[in-house]
Amino acid sequence: MPPTHRPRRLRRAEPLRRLVRETRLHPAQLVQPLFVEEGLDGRRPVPSMPGVDRLGWKEAVRVARDLEQAGVGGVLLFALPGRKDAHGSSAWDPGGVAARAIAALKADTTIPVLADLCLCAYTDHGHCGPLRADGGLDEPATLEAYGHVAVAQARAGADLVAPSGMVDGQVRAIRAALDQEGFGEVGVLSYAAKYASSFYGPFRDAAASAPRHGDRRGHQLDPANAREALREVALDVEEGADAVMVKPAMPCLDVVRAVRERFEVPLAAYQVSGEYSMLVAAAERGWLDRDAAVLESLTAIRRAGADMVVTYFAQEVAAWL
Ligand code: PBG
Repeated sequence: MPPTHRPRRLRRAEPLRRLVRETRLHPAQLVQPLFVEEGLDGRRPVPSMPGVDRLGWKEAVRVARDLEQAGVGGVLLFALPGRKDAHGSSAWDPGGVAARAIAALKADTTIPVLADLCLCAYTDHGHCGPLRADGGLDEPATLEAYGHVAVAQARAGADLVAPSGMVDGQVRAIRAALDQEGFGEVGVLSYAAKYASSFYGPFRDAAASAPRHGDRRGHQLDPANAREALREVALDVEEGADAVMVKPAMPCLDVVRAVRERFEVPLAAYQVSGEYSMLVAAAERGWLDRDAAVLESLTAIRRAGADMVVTYFAQEVAAWL
C-alpha cells in the first residue's frame, strides 16, 4: 500500500514549491545598518565584519541612494563621533555627526531613516549613559539625555528613533520629550527585547562602543529568559513604542515567535554582527554556501514572525530578490 499522505507531492519541482511557499522575502522588509564616522572621507573596512565598512557621510548618502533604488525598506544609522565625553553629549549636538548624517540622508533620499538611540558610542567610558560616582548607570540623567538625543535626531529628520539602551522607562521619556518639542509624528522603534549577547562582539569593533570596564548584563536581558522578554515588550508598548525589536535574531527565534503571537505592533528582528560574521567566515572557508545560507537565515527569521529584519546583508540580498 502506498502511503495515503504524501506531502512530498507538493515539493516535486520548484514551480510547485513556489506555489505553496509560506514565507517570502522582499527588499522592503529589510533594513540596512550604516556606520557613519565623523571626519572620514570614503570608506574604512571593519576588520571583524568583512564586507561592512564605516562610511563618511557623503559615502553614506551614495549607499542610501543605492539602497533606495534596490527597494530596501530602511536604513538604521549608527554614528561614530570624533569627540567623546563622560555624558556622551555629542549625541545631541545639532552639529554632530549623527544629526548631520541624518539630515544629509533625508535631503537626498526618501528611504526611511531609523536612528539608533544610545550613548555607548558617545561616552568616553563606553556605557549607555552617564555614570554615578559608584560606577553604576545614572538612570535619571540617562533618561534625560535620551530625550535630548531623540529631539536632536527628530529635528535632523529621523523618521523613527530606535532606543537600544534597555534602560527602564526610556520609551516613555523619549515619547514625552518628542511630544513636548512638537515631534509627535516621529515614531519609536524600541529595542524592547535586547539580550546581553556575545553575538554583538564584532559590532563593538564597527561602532567603537565597547565598555571600558564591566558589561551590559545589568540592563540587557539574560539569554536564559523568554517570559521576561514578553514583559519588556508589554512595558514598551504601554509606554508608547510604535514598533518593537527582538535582538539577536537567530538565537532568539522562539522569542520572535512569542512576541508575534501576543502583540499587534510591527515586529523587527536584528540579525546582529556576530550572526553576520559567523556566516561570512564560514563561507570564506568554503564551509557554507554563502548565498543559500544567508537566504535561509533571513527566511527563518521572517518565518518566526518578524515583519522587518535588520541585517548587514540587506543591500546584497535586495539585489538578488
Ligand atoms: C548599542 C547597540 C549595540 C548593537 C546595536 N546597538 C551593541 C551593544 O548593545 O553592545 C549591536 C548590533 C550588532 O551586534 O550588530 N547599544
